[in-house]
Amino acid sequence: MSNPEILQVGPYPQWDEEPLNAAFAVHRYFDAADKPALLDKVGPDVRGIATRGELGANRAMIEACPNLEIISVYGVGYDAVDLAACREKGIRVTNTPDVLTNDVADLGVAMMLCQSRGMIGAESWVKDGSWNAKGLYPLKRRVWGRRAGILGLGRIGFEVAKRLKGFDMEISYSDVGPKSYAEGMRFVADPVELARNVDFLFVTLAASVETRHIVGRDIIAALGTEGMLINISRASNIDEEALLDALESGALGSAALDVFEGEPKLNPRFLALNNVLLQPHHASGTIETRKAMGKLVRDNLEAHFSGAPLLTPVL
Ligand code: 8YV
Repeated sequence: MSNPEILQVGPYPQWDEEPLNAAFAVHRYFDAADKPALLDKVGPDVRGIATRGELGANRAMIEACPNLEIISVYGVGYDAVDLAACREKGIRVTNTPDVLTNDVADLGVAMMLCQSRGMIGAESWVKDGSWNAKGLYPLKRRVWGRRAGILGLGRIGFEVAKRLKGFDMEISYSDVGPKSYAEGMRFVADPVELARNVDFLFVTLAASVETRHIVGRDIIAALGTEGMLINISRASNIDEEALLDALESGALGSAALDVFEGEPKLNPRFLALNNVLLQPHHASGTIETRKAMGKLVRDNLEAHFSGAPLLTPVL
């Protein structure tokens, strides 16, 4: 029997491309100069879609593949997949939770440290001769012992909290309700109240239509002139215009961001700021984690096409 035909939405590392091409007949959507023409031609043959978290699969793509059975997402976030369309058509969806949790948490904490201690500016201070010419680097703010808030205490938020305990930080969190596993952390139901009482606010919420712009002007204002906002979730969780306004005016102290509206094309206002740390959506970007994510994408597809239970189903 011939291998099932799948549509690959974005590129993967070479170590994933080879096994994917061995197990499936792969149509490379991202390589097609005329994408609608590719969908017209191969759509009816496509039984699976392999995509990435930030690329997802929209309704038009799903509808162009009338025999689609499964969408396998390389990423924990599946907000870019049109789940309503999948539900209507009985299409299964899988993601790659757990395997990336620790790396995402690591990067969030690293971003907090890097930004609070001014490490990017400090390196420039060494490289551009300022150390020699001007002397000591300007003093920055401490991290240990200060107050951290976590918006969304799921798997990633919990791992961030675990790491912050090592810095003797006071940890509070907001979520839909208190979590039984949140030992030693304070539950604050209202995110504005949370922001008002912390120095660092981590956004670790799974994004959905409901969480869009959940971090708006009120939370940003409550975090205040000395506060830092760290986003390792999705850009849609934050009202980016409100964030930019607050960073420009100094109403918010600083931000450390791994995700952006319209990424990889950023709003140019970000580039003019000196109180923001910008990262290229790479919180899960270690060789170890990406290998595990790629394997899970394939394992889910293979499980589906062999009639075995999905490993990490969303739908
Ligand atoms: C991306 C992510 O999938 O896990 C997620 O939801 O957004 C990431 O892991 C990754 O950047 C690869 O595209």
